[in-house]
Amino acid sequence: MSSIYDVIIIGAGAAGLMCASTAGYRGRSVLVLDHANKPGKKILMSGGGRCNFTNLNNTPANFLSDNPHFCISALKRYTPQHFLELVDRHGIEHEEKAVGQLFCKNSAKDILNLLLTECDWADVELKMKTNIDSVLSHGNGYHLKTSSGNFQCESLVIASGGLSIPTMGASSFGYGIAKQFGLNIIPTSAALVPFTLPPQLKERLAPLAGVSYPVEVSCNGAVFREPMLITHRGLSGPAMLQISSFWHPGDALRINLLPSVSVSDGLYERRRTKPHSHIHHFLEEFLPKRFAKAFCDLQQWNKPFQYCQNEDLKAIAEVLNYWEVQPAGTEGYRTAEVTLGGVDTRDLSSKTMSVRNQPGLFFIGEVLDVTGHLGGHNFQWAWASGVAAGQYA
Ligand code: FDA
Repeated sequence: MSSIYDVIIIGAGAAGLMCASTAGYRGRSVLVLDHANKPGKKILMSGGGRCNFTNLNNTPANFLSDNPHFCISALKRYTPQHFLELVDRHGIEHEEKAVGQLFCKNSAKDILNLLLTECDWADVELKMKTNIDSVLSHGNGYHLKTSSGNFQCESLVIASGGLSIPTMGASSFGYGIAKQFGLNIIPTSAALVPFTLPPQLKERLAPLAGVSYPVEVSCNGAVFREPMLITHRGLSGPAMLQISSFWHPGDALRINLLPSVSVSDGLYERRRTKPHSHIHHFLEEFLPKRFAKAFCDLQQWNKPFQYCQNEDLKAIAEVLNYWEVQPAGTEGYRTAEVTLGGVDTRDLSSKTMSVRNQPGLFFIGEVLDVTGHLGGHNFQWAWASGVAAGQYA
């Protein structure tokens, strides 16, 4: 015997819950299945526990994909303003931290409660701790064998997310289903993830763990001007997380340590006015003191200005503006915020998120090859793709 629903959604995360309430409000009977013990775990840990739930400046240019036009339609139809209206309707206090980035004032729990309340109002059923054993296409719909029993549905929505943070329930389930139904997978990798460093550089920088300041980092044509954070393991902070989505193993990062300073002029001026001072004294005016000294030691800039030739100052300016760092790797899925790549969107309708040649099968959220920049864009994609599918599933 199977329990029958109009719509079954696999994954009780941001995209799945949004899709569930949208479909439920249309009068569809909706069941959400998830193998984790609680819904929305990533929402709870997002934004340092305060969930950066959207970005007011969100545009399709904030996303990486092999098929960059795919996200346009859903993002246009469900904008940050729409989600903000929902947040306001639920009386959730929020604040704009960096430009456009909206966070909960109190706790990310507020966003999860909003989604669960909406699901409740829309008569959505939620079954946690459910392992999906098999999915088969069956007549006009799908048949699921699970650890909570057998189910049938007309529309099956895969909202099982990407591979980041396996301890939070991440799995490759969605990619497996995509392959089962003949879809292509764009190769995946960890993104919005800290870098690890080669042992020597790591050792040199380790005592500076905790130091953070704004830099401009570039790699493969992408440029971000945001804070960099030195950690015990390597380099992190918004600048490094952002650029990690564009980095491939073996690539070097170019870090401009003083993007707002005319470095050459400053160095020549310093040699003229304070010839006995050292390079680190100059750098201390702009960089955290600890970092300025350690960076000069690393580069072996030990002589006072008076002994620096023009070529020396030119070389110093070059390093400060283009410090080339070749990461050893990244911290991988263990700490990554998102997964780059995923289900190839070329096989899907950008209007409905359904698979063109497989009626009733939908993919939404992070499982798709649509990856946002840091700053609330990934949740905006979860909301927008969830609503798009919820209107048709
Ligand atoms: P999500 O991963 O949220 O949900 C997938 C669900 O599917 C999970 O509940 C999982 O248990 C379930 N599932 C997986 N495999 C299954 C299986 N085999 N069977 C049954 N169920 C299965 N984004 C942002 O915009 N602002 C932010 O502040 C942050 N902050 C942040 C911090 C950290 C630490 C992380 C890891 C990530 C973020 N993100 C973020 C990214 C954001 O969390 C992410 O993009 C969305 O949660 C994706 O939503 P989905 O619903 O697609 O997947």
